[in-house]
Amino acid sequence: MSSDEIAPIGILTISDRVSRGEYEDRGGPAVQQWLQSRLRGSRRFDLRTVPDEIDAVTEILQQMASRGSLIVTTGGTGIGPRDITPEAMKAACHSFLPGFGEKMRAASWQAVPTAILSRATAGLIEKCLVINLPGNPRAIGECLESIWSAIPHAIEIIGGSIGETLDAAPDPHSTGDNN
Ligand code: MTE
Repeated sequence: MSSDEIAPIGILTISDRVSRGEYEDRGGPAVQQWLQSRLRGSRRFDLRTVPDEIDAVTEILQQMASRGSLIVTTGGTGIGPRDITPEAMKAACHSFLPGFGEKMRAASWQAVPTAILSRATAGLIEKCLVINLPGNPRAIGECLESIWSAIPHAIEIIGGSIGETLDAAPDPHSTGDNN
């Protein structure tokens, strides 16, 4: 399967200041670089930015989900007055995978106690897995590393595809000796 046949991976930076051009988007490109390092062959990525507005984020998530199997968001997961990523997730997703947020917080909190302030979660919009990351670019590798092994299998279960990966967890249903 060539990279052209695989649906693009969506990366959404949720930030008022990046959207207004006051800050350079460092989060989106960092997510792209990290994901590309775990995928066999090159992929198309669809990088976008959106301000911290529930309706705008909900709409763009739904639009991106109709075109792909994976969206990774960065930013807006905290408790600031403008942090609405979890509320937009509630509006956009039909089901949720709280384990992704739990694992990211658990993986980060000893080194970064404020990791517990992130309300990041994951959810499904039809055949697309949506995963939230905190906005700090330093959080991106740390958080993705902690959850990556479950992502390819999750996408396979929902009937999507991100193509071949370099180090996905083995299919838990194929061995027959672990449950
Ligand atoms: N997780 C990791 N690994 N590294 C970090 O620097 N920052 C925390 C938390 N999670 C952080 C982290 C902080 S300070 C906040 S406020 C929350 O993520 C929410 O960040 P966000 O609102 O930019 O998404």
